[in-house]
Amino acid sequence: VSQKVRIVSVQDEAPDIKSFILESADDKPLAGFEPGAHVDVKVADGISRSYSLINTTECPHQYHIAVKREADGRGGSAMMHTFAPGQLLDVSEPRNNFPLADPRGRSILVAGGIGITPIYGMAKSLAQAGEPFELHYLARTEEAAAFVSALKDEFGDRLRPAFGLDASRVSDYLGDVLGAAKNGDHLYICGPKPLMDLGRDLAARNPALTLHLEYFSADTDLDPLPKGSFQVKLARSGRTITIPEGRSIVDVLADHDIEVETSCEQGICGACLTKVLEGTPDHRDMLLTDEEHAANDQMTVCVSRSIGPLLVLDL
Ligand code: FES
Repeated sequence: VSQKVRIVSVQDEAPDIKSFILESADDKPLAGFEPGAHVDVKVADGISRSYSLINTTECPHQYHIAVKREADGRGGSAMMHTFAPGQLLDVSEPRNNFPLADPRGRSILVAGGIGITPIYGMAKSLAQAGEPFELHYLARTEEAAAFVSALKDEFGDRLRPAFGLDASRVSDYLGDVLGAAKNGDHLYICGPKPLMDLGRDLAARNPALTLHLEYFSADTDLDPLPKGSFQVKLARSGRTITIPEGRSIVDVLADHDIEVETSCEQGICGACLTKVLEGTPDHRDMLLTDEEHAANDQMTVCVSRSIGPLLVLDL
């Protein structure tokens, strides 16, 4: 469900990062959210981008997001950076792929670069609830990192800045942090893929930890797409449609006037999750957990494909 919002403030947070405060542009209250949630912002026709919510439910009449201008992105972030207060936008209701665990234990929050956005909201909530946490903030330089002084003010020594580390020192740093984790601790990481991969590897060595990951942009080094076409049968209408090599399920269905809700089209937001009734998906997303992939009962039809000749979908 889309909501109409107005940008009420735009702030420079770092050379490439702006933050935006959005409020309802009609009389309807904004849909609520929990820490870790994101909204999909329709930046232009056919271009939506997912941005994590930084604010907490303390000010539910606003959505606070931050956008890094990606030089090699597909244009969505650059367009966001041209917007000024007063601009109207459509945003989705918040979706949460990265919730705080319940029960919580101690939270070890790790943010890399613009990955600070969901982590900041989580830290605020934990601080408000008086729950134990530490926030490790990794970035190339302090100047390139958003919100540093606000984070220091709000969280004091719970903020552990780790700026300017090269790859091997990042590995040592995280190794030390995770090595010190205790039973029941939860580790949350949001940042670039190499950081997430490193966190995943290191966390696997410490069974005391439960790991939670949030990807904020799709990586480009997935295995190459398998060759060949497959068929998709739509259970509700009984139609069978061939998906040729090199085209996504959503694209081909759109050619047949079958619209599936999408946003990121990169397998990270969850907008297009569809139930699988038969067949085995070739999962290409970064959203579902390994267990969810293994269950093979749902798939992201924007990027995922089929291992066998036929998938039956609940569409
Ligand atoms: S549209 Fe975002 S996961 Fe498919």
